[in-house]
Amino acid sequence: RELRAASSPPAQNATQQRLPGAIIIGVRKGGTRALLEMLNLHPDVEVAKAEVHYFNIEEHYQQGLAWYRAQMPFTLPGQLTVEKTPGYFASPQVPERVWEINPAVRLLLIVRDPAERLVSDYTQVLHNRMTRHKPYQPLEELLISQGHINPSYKALQRSLYHQHLAHWLDVFPREQIHVVDGESLIRDPFPELRRAESFLDLPPRIAPSNFYFNTTKGFYCLLSASGHDKCLDESKGRPHAPLRSQAFRKLCRYFREPNRLFFEMVGRSFSWC
Ligand code: A3P
Repeated sequence: RELRAASSPPAQNATQQRLPGAIIIGVRKGGTRALLEMLNLHPDVEVAKAEVHYFNIEEHYQQGLAWYRAQMPFTLPGQLTVEKTPGYFASPQVPERVWEINPAVRLLLIVRDPAERLVSDYTQVLHNRMTRHKPYQPLEELLISQGHINPSYKALQRSLYHQHLAHWLDVFPREQIHVVDGESLIRDPFPELRRAESFLDLPPRIAPSNFYFNTTKGFYCLLSASGHDKCLDESKGRPHAPLRSQAFRKLCRYFREPNRLFFEMVGRSFSWC
């Protein structure tokens, strides 16, 4: 960490770029950035700052492993490299590809109420379109057609966690996937980080004092050991696009059965709507 913080590039003989030992695979809008930044508080962890999209974007995948490795941070031997790409979770070709390069990789999946996730997903796309001055339909128009939930809406499909997880469980044993509760991470990050450290076989180094609640942001922010203070940027935790409560309830009903199937697969339940 000292080496990376210095302005000159790290000495090549001391550090090198290594393939990740752990990957945050999703879910999109689940709190993946928060989880990555929080894991990065650990002295034995170095993270790829930008989303890598190696296994899910064909042009990247075709560049091969040397390209993938070049996206990674420099680490000392014994440090764990972590990357996060939320697009991996819902891409069915990815699990096999990940297995091929490292069948022992540890996978982290941060989940969130799928109805809230969908609204957050829509809000992000809307925001991106608005910044490019492009029009976008209201959420309800995309979500509901002739009084029924529209099953072909992409953001809805991304919230069908059981379908995506099934592809991962075809390839990886359940124990290799650690599920993080995104709502708990928001309410009280430390216990989730302690569980993640244990899953990653890291000595417990992240402490409650690494987090403080920022009332302006309305979320926990991070304090590193060197006293560096960091909140996530304004794209994390922004107000959601409006959705009438009647439509939201319809959405909750729609997710009831998919959620039950997901709970069965992971062997735990969540208090989602
Ligand atoms: P919202 O913007 O819908 O509130 P991702 O990083 O996967 O895109 O997830 C974004 C979500 O992370 C945000 O969704 C926010 O709720 C959640 N989050 C979790 N912990 C956070 C934190 N400490 N600061 C800001 N956002 C956090």
